[in-house]
Amino acid sequence: MELDNSINQRFSVKSFTDKKVGLDAVTQLLGAGGKAPSAGNLQDWRFIVVTDEGKKDEIASACMEQVWIGQAPVLIVVCSDLTNLRRFYEDRAEIYGIEDCSAATENILLKATDMGLNSTWVSAFDEGEVMRVLRTPDSYKVISVIAIGYSEEKLDEKQRHDIKTLTYYNEYGSSTSQSNAFPLVKEENVKAVKEAAKESKGFFEKLKEKFSKVRDELKKEDE
Ligand SMILES: Cc1cc2nc3c(=O)[nH]c(=O)nc-3n(C[C@H](O)[C@H](O)[C@H](O)COP(=O)(O)O)c2cc1C
Repeated sequence: MELDNSINQRFSVKSFTDKKVGLDAVTQLLGAGGKAPSAGNLQDWRFIVVTDEGKKDEIASACMEQVWIGQAPVLIVVCSDLTNLRRFYEDRAEIYGIEDCSAATENILLKATDMGLNSTWVSAFDEGEVMRVLRTPDSYKVISVIAIGYSEEKLDEKQRHDIKTLTYYNEYGSSTSQSNAFPLVKEENVKAVKEAAKESKGFFEKLKEKFSKVRDELKKEDE
């Protein structure tokens, strides 16, 4: 299936048939999750695959009593392990954890659609309760519970805002036309862009320094 088809045909379901989802399919879904971008490539996502009937029901209860979640043959609970993110990014760690795991979650949803599976991203939950049921360490932050299975529900496209009404160019409120918004294609601007890239190099140098420092610390801890 083409990416566009996957994007256009994904939709959330709230009911599943009894058809099982095999381990091979789950492995493919996780593989897609692990290909997502992540801050500093730290790959802080941790996936907890839940197939146990009792546990699924407990998770469904922890998700504000959304009992239909327990009907899904498989739940993939996506958590961020904040340990390394905190070491590298300090007060940005949590937001990066959320972003990394959200990217992984969306990859899984699109892959599921591509494989003919149905899914729903669930994030309305009592985090402490999910952590208790799954016995996750304190360094984990629960980002999403993905319910996966086969459904008889049919795509009922939700109303979407016209994307033009949600988009600004260059600054908030600007109604600049799209062609004016991309002056970079003009030859005279290419030089300015190269200069700007040179100036921002300091940022990457600093980041590199920080990374090698933390890596050294980690190495020492391992020894
Ligand atoms: C952060 C987040 C949290 C969500 N939490 C829930 C949830 O707890 N229960 C649920 O049924 N759907 C949940 N959804 C699914 C949305 O309701 C759904 O994506 C939205 O209505 C658009 O519909 P669609 O997925 O069919 O396009 C969540 C989606 C996101 C991104």
